[in-house]
Amino acid sequence: MPFGVIYIAIMPTVDDPTEKTLAELGVNDAQGVAEKFAEVRTRFDRQVAFDADEIRSLMLHEAWLGSDSDPVTSLRNFWVGRKAGVLTLITENWLKKSPPSLKGVVGKQFNELKTHIETKLEEQRKRIEEKTEAAALNREQVDLSLPGVIRPIGSHHLIRQVFQEIEDIFFSIGFSIVEGPEIETPYYNFEALNIPEFHPVRDDMDTFYLELPKAAKTPLLLRTHTSPMQIRTMEKQKPPVRVIVPGKVYRRDNPDATHSFIFHQVEGLAVDTDITFCDFTGTIDYFVKQFFGSSVKTRFRPSYFPFTEPSVEFDVSCIFCGGGGAAAGGGTCSKCKGSGWIELFGAGMVDPAVYGFVKYDARKVSGFAFGMGIDRLAMLKYGIDDIQVFFQNDVRFLKQFP
Ligand code: FA5
Repeated sequence: MPFGVIYIAIMPTVDDPTEKTLAELGVNDAQGVAEKFAEVRTRFDRQVAFDADEIRSLMLHEAWLGSDSDPVTSLRNFWVGRKAGVLTLITENWLKKSPPSLKGVVGKQFNELKTHIETKLEEQRKRIEEKTEAAALNREQVDLSLPGVIRPIGSHHLIRQVFQEIEDIFFSIGFSIVEGPEIETPYYNFEALNIPEFHPVRDDMDTFYLELPKAAKTPLLLRTHTSPMQIRTMEKQKPPVRVIVPGKVYRRDNPDATHSFIFHQVEGLAVDTDITFCDFTGTIDYFVKQFFGSSVKTRFRPSYFPFTEPSVEFDVSCIFCGGGGAAAGGGTCSKCKGSGWIELFGAGMVDPAVYGFVKYDARKVSGFAFGMGIDRLAMLKYGIDDIQVFFQNDVRFLKQFP
């Protein structure tokens, strides 16, 4: 409906008939009176049919209503307001100022109009209230048939998954799993592992020391390997010992594709009265075949660690070129650099000197230990060419290993 038309219907107009007396309007008989009342009633009926929003927009349109006023109350005041409502104007200008001959007719018409207006305004109030309530209910209604919110389910980080695989393999052959502190003393990280102060091996491993108060009894450092747990385990437990120790370690290494200053290791330790080098190589061979597949071959080369004697490096036949050293598309395999072997981890028979630190009788016990870099193991198995992706937590990478 065009605004103009309704506006005229609502607003008090300049020549509003209720502001004049009946005589001024040229009404001098009962029929004229009835016609004037009918005009007012028609005007009222049109307005009372609007809903709250329609009344508001019309009144706002002509700046007749403050934006925070209630339109229904404003309309009510316009009609039945005590001071200047239409009914008051009719009382003042038509009823009180009508000639005595018309008083009865005007009074009757007035009463009918008044009853009509009050009834209809009350009906309008109820109607609008019910509509508002229904709209609110509708807004708040919960539609149980709508599909629920699907929250993406996370998964274990690939490193955690590899830890689990390794733990399962060793658990199945009688190893238990222990964990140790990431903050260590130099005694456990170095000295008890037969690495005295000023031993050149410390240069490779020296790490992050904690800032401590001057009165601190011993320096503390972030462990450089999981090997300190060899000592802690043997201190607590008499042989036989069969444990693996998964965990984080820290070194001052510059980050590149195969180095990170924080990485993960799994330490292994088996000590008993009759453990031989054959038990050692057999265990490692079993693990590697379980982890990489039965077609993979293993070999060991002499190496050096102060806490094992003899010490070895374990290699696996290259899983990328099958051990042949040639890339699938020709040329040499870039992963093993054509050698056909990939270095896996350090290991060896526990050095008898270490038993002295844990009060084991070196003449009665023997054992082996190994320390694997888990990040590199995971890179090999899953064909990942940059160790840094493990620490960037890019969801696009993580999602590939659900
Ligand atoms: C050691 O840490 C010895 N504790 C292992 C050991 C245990 C030997 C028991 C004998 C008996 P090494 O420094 O080589 O050894 O580290 C072991 C493995 O950790 C490496 O083979 C490599 O896979 C991984 N590694 C070493 N430095 C880093 C680094 N900066 N980033 C990622 N991986 C690393």
